[in-house]
Amino acid sequence: MEEQIAKLTEDCSAEIASAASESELYSVKVRYLGKSGLISELMKGMRNVPPEQRPAMGKIVNEARSALEARFSARGKELHDKELADRLAAEKIDITIDRNRPVGRLHPLSSVKKRLVDFFVSMGFDVMDGPEVETDYYNFEALNVPKDHPARDMQDTFFIDEGILLRSQTSASQVRYMEKVKPPIKMISPGRVFRNDDDATHSPVFHQLEGLVVDKGITMCDLKGILDMFAKHFFGKDTQVRFRPSYFPFTEPSVEVDVSCAMCHGAGCRICKGTGWIEILGAGIVNRKVLRTCGIDPDEYTGFAFGFGIDRIANIIHSIPHIKLLYENDVRFLRQF
Ligand code: DAH
Repeated sequence: MEEQIAKLTEDCSAEIASAASESELYSVKVRYLGKSGLISELMKGMRNVPPEQRPAMGKIVNEARSALEARFSARGKELHDKELADRLAAEKIDITIDRNRPVGRLHPLSSVKKRLVDFFVSMGFDVMDGPEVETDYYNFEALNVPKDHPARDMQDTFFIDEGILLRSQTSASQVRYMEKVKPPIKMISPGRVFRNDDDATHSPVFHQLEGLVVDKGITMCDLKGILDMFAKHFFGKDTQVRFRPSYFPFTEPSVEVDVSCAMCHGAGCRICKGTGWIEILGAGIVNRKVLRTCGIDPDEYTGFAFGFGIDRIANIIHSIPHIKLLYENDVRFLRQF
């Protein structure tokens, strides 16, 4: 029996050493040390051992069992560590591997809009968001453009239903704002506008930024001061601003505002079509009728308003030749910014 034990111990040790995984090791353990395993089997032979030898034999079996158990647990730890190390190596994520993957960035329109908003916010303007689906009242009527007014022809409008339209100008926000907030008012409202215009130089969707300042004693000088700072900030320190008389139903007097061409500094080039000036916005002193419609007393308060195309400003800043490029989403174009 002693020999059998020695043989079993030897075989088991060899199998422990060659077990390649924790689960393999476990089945070896069950086979040798389990309840009906080979060692238990061997113990049955104890019956045939003379009683006086049984204690000594029992001791040998127990020693063999604990020696094997120690080997199982040592090998178990070894296999566990190895399996963990293998798994960690296999699951390792190489975070440098995608180093050359292109990174997203803001669309030039979004980044220019953000810069414009930052500029006005830094001067204390409040930012307002208006609805894109607007009523005839806010888009036209309250801005002194009644139903039969010829100025409606300037903005070929998408009507959705009787009295409901896609706003053709962010000026609609002025009225909504003045209905809620009483002077002193300093607000801008950037957003999408829509017109039934679609050719090489017009997109049916574009972006405007509206500005409105209403307080006691506001004059054209305040308007010019702000626009001068605006122009110098975005187009360069020596940019000149020029007012030309114009007409908008919601301002009186009205002006169109040009900045000196940053490319040729007034000499005349392709960008400014040889004039030395680039038209950037419409503006004026808020029409008394508009103030009154919004519940503001025009004898007590005056104001100025302006509106420009964000797309146009982006095109000037980045020398983009036409507006359509901003809407094609061609990555070769967008990657440049
Ligand atoms: N809403 C005008 C347009 O879309 C631009 C404009 C002109 C806005 C004069 C104003 C303004 O606030 O005072 O052409």
